[in-house]
Amino acid sequence: MYIIAGSTGTLGTAIVDALSKDNELFLIGRDETKLKEQASAINADYQVIDLNNTVEPREFAKIIDTDTEIKGLVNCIGSILIKPLHGTTIDEFNDVITTNLFSSYYLLASFARRMKNGSAIFFSSVAGSKGLSNHEAIAAAKSGIEGFARSAAATYAKDNLRVNVIAPSIMDSNMSEKILSSEAAREVSKNMHPISKIGDADDILPVIKWLLSPDAKWVTGQTIHVDGGLSTVKPR
Ligand SMILES: NC(=O)c1ccc[n+]([C@@H]2O[C@H](COP(=O)([O-])OP(=O)(O)OC[C@H]3O[C@@H](n4cnc5c(N)ncnc54)[C@H](OP(=O)(O)O)[C@@H]3O)[C@@H](O)[C@H]2O)c1
Repeated sequence: MYIIAGSTGTLGTAIVDALSKDNELFLIGRDETKLKEQASAINADYQVIDLNNTVEPREFAKIIDTDTEIKGLVNCIGSILIKPLHGTTIDEFNDVITTNLFSSYYLLASFARRMKNGSAIFFSSVAGSKGLSNHEAIAAAKSGIEGFARSAAATYAKDNLRVNVIAPSIMDSNMSEKILSSEAAREVSKNMHPISKIGDADDILPVIKWLLSPDAKWVTGQTIHVDGGLSTVKPR
């Protein structure tokens, strides 16, 4: 079974569509109505999560039967905040950390011991490794995820559980809808990238499928940048 958290988001939905044909999935999200509809369409189980009101991970782990083999966990729960640091409220900062970093801790802490020979995937962003102005909160959360995943990769390597991170740049999704709402903004975003394009779920899906598969059996503790080169490349 694969656990997909944040399954009702843009990337989550694309992953569910791609994996549900050949695999048993367990869906986790915050909106029961959307989750129920998505789960019933593929005959999957689901669980609502309230990140501000959680039980201990060992309790939460009971949502999946102990006999079930958990082969993979993909956490698509995330948010974006682009705001100057001095204008970021405590609540906004905490919310970004909770949604992105705490959710990653919580899900892996719940299921890691049940994932021998499995693969866990988390999402950073280009802001996790490149200093982008007004991205302090999301940069803190996402680079936190990168460090968290490296340490977890070391801890659980003895169980052959691989822990990796994908770091995309801006992609068309619910999250970026406002940022990319005008043609002018789309052009600016597109042209920031050495490979001039706004990302989408199809750019990320092959990497997810590969990381979940035995083809990536020797890959752990990595952050894989899928960002049109933005994090590392300066075009001529
Ligand atoms: N889109 C981009 O430009 C971009 C760039 C870099 C990194 N990423 C990362 O990629 C991952 C997937 O994002 P996406 O593009 O698919 O965006 P999305 O469509 O907005 O999906 C985000 C998911 O997180 C869930 N979520 C948000 N806040 C939550 C909370 N407090 N509790 C529980 N669930 C919550 C959303 O639930 P609902 O479905 O109920 O809204 C949704 O399922 C995220 O980690 C994001 O940070 C995205």
